[in-house]
Amino acid sequence: MAAAATEAASFLASFVLGVLALSLVVSPSVSDAARAFFVFGDSLVDNGNNNYLVTTARADAPPYGIDYPTHQATGRFSNGINIPDIISEHIGGDPTLPYLSPMLSGIRLLNGANFASAGVGILNDTGIQFMNMIRITQQMEYFKQYQKRLEFMLGEQDASRHVKRSLVLITLGGNDFVNNYYLVPFSVRSRQFSLPDFVTYIISEYKKILMTLHQLGARRVLVTGTGPLGCVPARLAQSSIDGTCDPELQRAGTLFNSHLVQVINKLNANYGADVFVAANAFNMHMDFITNPRKYGFVTSTVACCGQGAYNGVGLCTMASNLCPRRENNVFWDAYHPTEKASRIIVSRFVAGSIDYMHPMNLSTIMELDSKLL
Ligand SMILES: *[C@@H]1O[C@H](CO)[C@@H](O)[C@H](O)[C@H]1NC(C)=O
Ligand SMILES: *[C@@H]1O[C@H](CO)[C@@H](O)[C@H](O)[C@H]1NC(C)=O
Repeated sequence: MAAAATEAASFLASFVLGVLALSLVVSPSVSDAARAFFVFGDSLVDNGNNNYLVTTARADAPPYGIDYPTHQATGRFSNGINIPDIISEHIGGDPTLPYLSPMLSGIRLLNGANFASAGVGILNDTGIQFMNMIRITQQMEYFKQYQKRLEFMLGEQDASRHVKRSLVLITLGGNDFVNNYYLVPFSVRSRQFSLPDFVTYIISEYKKILMTLHQLGARRVLVTGTGPLGCVPARLAQSSIDGTCDPELQRAGTLFNSHLVQVINKLNANYGADVFVAANAFNMHMDFITNPRKYGFVTSTVACCGQGAYNGVGLCTMASNLCPRRENNVFWDAYHPTEKASRIIVSRFVAGSIDYMHPMNLSTIMELDSKLL
């Protein structure tokens, strides 16, 4: 009996010691910090990494940023803030800093990081015409490097915990069509693959990327499919006389998005958890493309900034046409949504039904995860 009591006492002592040790390691700044947010992908979610590269895919000159709080171009492909910034607002964090920004150090690392780079795709040969980009495999390498820096600050256990309770966004795929398969008639990839076979191929590569993210500790990942590629002003300028969307590119987007949901279902089943959430940007965009006025837009075909048909030819620069009221337009430039359109898209991320967010929306995720903390 005495032995049992001693054992119980020593167990209690080591338990108390353990708790003490834990509370010493978990500094208040860590446990109080907002959930970290990590962003991977292309220009739709790049917060300025390409500013630090020698590349033609950049948005660091006016009129980009005309409606940003500072009214300066930041490298975001928007008139104002973009989709990741609006998600940050919803989860109560600061906007994600570009990983290449010298500002991203010390306590700011806790907020997460943005690894996205304009021009990239799932495939390495996507976007090569832009010269330099941070390809997706390199974005993952930077994520590893980030985690080493976080470990140095917090210790291994807390760093890993901070990453596991983070939110992740990845947006890829659009460029594999627009800046690869359909970049030029008879492109290498389009001679190599029929459209359905190309989709099967890039989805199998995307699956590997998502598995790597999981391996690196991501446990809640919003995965956006492609938007309505056939309806962007750049495409309308090439092939539409009356503003109707290019059916071939629409078919590409639809195929890609349906395969993506299947892969996500499989991965979640394998992991036995809802790690990945498919965000159907295609359906979200189509709502205001089919009925712009319902959402307070005047046009869903003409870009605010650009030139030529639908302002869809070439880049948005100081020499371009610029619409006076950005809230009238779904598209800011030939490919990217205005801040107003981005806000509507994120509101679907947050509270959308299963047709937009599969298997659940962000408000459900936030509620579930708050119970775990
Ligand atoms: C892209 O390049 C990286 C690094 O060179 C390589 O690890 C990866 O397998 C390549 N991806 C594809 C789809 O070829
Ligand atoms: C999405 O969010 C709303 C709350 O904002 C909730 O009522 C609804 O059930 C959610 N839908 C799904 C499919 O999770």
